[in-house]
Amino acid sequence: MGYAQVYSVALHGVAGEVIVVEADVSFGLPNFVVSGLPDAALSEARDRVRSAVTNSGGKWPLERIIVNLLPAHVRKHGSGFDTAVALAILAASSDLPVARLNEAVVLGELGLDGTVRPVRGVLPAVLAASRAGKAMALVPLANVTEARLVPDIEVLGTDSLGRLIGYLHGQESLLDPAAQPPPDEAAPLDLADVLGQERGRRVIELAAAGRHHVAMFGPPGTGKTMLAARLPGVLPPLDDQEAIEVTALHSIAGTLAPGAALIRRAPLQAPHHTASVAALVGGGSGLAKPGAVSLAHNGVLFLDECAEFSSGVLDALRQPLEDGEVRLRRTYGETAYPARTQLVMAANPCPCAKPGGRPACQCPSIVRRRYQSRLSGPLMDRVDLQVDLDPVRSTALLTTEHVEPSAIIAKRVLGAREIASDRWGPHAKTNGDVPASVLRDKRYRLPRPVLHPLTIELDRGRISARGFERSMRVAWTIADLDGRERPDAADVREALELRSRSVL
Ligand SMILES: Nc1ncnc2c1ncn2[C@@H]1O[C@H](COP(=O)(O)OP(=O)(O)O)[C@@H](O)[C@H]1O
Ligand SMILES: [Mg+2]
Ligand SMILES: [Zn+2]
Repeated sequence: MGYAQVYSVALHGVAGEVIVVEADVSFGLPNFVVSGLPDAALSEARDRVRSAVTNSGGKWPLERIIVNLLPAHVRKHGSGFDTAVALAILAASSDLPVARLNEAVVLGELGLDGTVRPVRGVLPAVLAASRAGKAMALVPLANVTEARLVPDIEVLGTDSLGRLIGYLHGQESLLDPAAQPPPDEAAPLDLADVLGQERGRRVIELAAAGRHHVAMFGPPGTGKTMLAARLPGVLPPLDDQEAIEVTALHSIAGTLAPGAALIRRAPLQAPHHTASVAALVGGGSGLAKPGAVSLAHNGVLFLDECAEFSSGVLDALRQPLEDGEVRLRRTYGETAYPARTQLVMAANPCPCAKPGGRPACQCPSIVRRRYQSRLSGPLMDRVDLQVDLDPVRSTALLTTEHVEPSAIIAKRVLGAREIASDRWGPHAKTNGDVPASVLRDKRYRLPRPVLHPLTIELDRGRISARGFERSMRVAWTIADLDGRERPDAADVREALELRSRSVL
């Protein structure tokens, strides 16, 4: 009888912390207590661990067992501690040598038969272990490829507790699966598919270059969905830090394909308009799952048919859009996930979804107005680009002219982004993010004649002060794309034009 400890990792949000799983087995009435703020899943772990040990040829001590997870103040969720708990108990009650695990963390859920099952969040957990100076991660076999995305830490996998016990006794080796080929990534959709629709293509390019939120209105079949789906294809690839953040979020959500590499392309999430608040912002019991707004972190959140979303769902997006992160209130406190996303909204101008103009759409203007008013307010206030799109002309669809592909547009976007991030320095990386105070700073303030188109509209009460600022941001993006140092009056006019929806 005795004492032993094994290390594991607890996740809070995308951050992980190495924790100690300690077991003490002493003579007394058979009892099994787990302490250290366990959630429901951890209590259930007691039964799983006991069965798994027995079914793996281990001897379950019929003694007084106390398992404690340290530090006590760290919240611990999920089933990823099972394997560490089993090893600690066996080491405390028998001759299982766990000293070689002193430099390791152990992750994995146990099945009743002793299989070691994959868990969510392996990438952020192994990253935390590596940062804490651990040299090895013992993970479920199915998670080995994911764990190996973290450099500078040895990763070993096991499919069963029995094999792990054999390994620690020096009788069996752990599994080292051949690197899985990454799943085929579908080629990104190309803007060359979108014919005509110059306005739509322009708006997508500007949105990409300035990281502006965008809303597109127009009758069905004008290419709104096509355009939105092609925005990620012209966004710059994610840098190392961004790629790790995005991949970690998908790992926690359980949406990472087996064998997947780091996600390098800006993600696109397009939740259906019937999606719940939880699906959009995250939630669920145990280890809270990130919602669409976090899975779209460093990428695009596309709300198609956005007027059909419930107002509760749209309201729930405000806080994450403002803060760049989602805070989920849980019974035991708060979990935060990153959610710096770019919003793309598309909507028909009326509820009938018939081609615009009479005779097809017969909706009275009051109905159209009521439909669109669902999209006003604080969320729309953050959308720099709000445009009406016209139906595509037959001449455009039948054209044989060359249409500029995404690859070329992406180059211009990247160039514009570099100019903007150099200019704003510590204030912002993109024009869409630059604070209003910086726009007004005398270094960046635009001269009166340049602002003239905007000041007229403001004085006539046709745009708000906020609208004024949004147009200035877009004007900077227009100039950046053109490689000019500062916006001129024509840029300001175009920016203004790209946020005046005639329909409202
Ligand atoms: N500009 C366009 N160029 C080529 N095809 C288009 C264009 N606009 C629409 N289409 C065709 O119409 C279909 C519907 O387009 P979609 O993007 O779903 O329109 P919306 O979202 O505005 O209703 C597309 O699948 C495509 O075949
Ligand atoms: Mg559509
Ligand atoms: Zn209608």
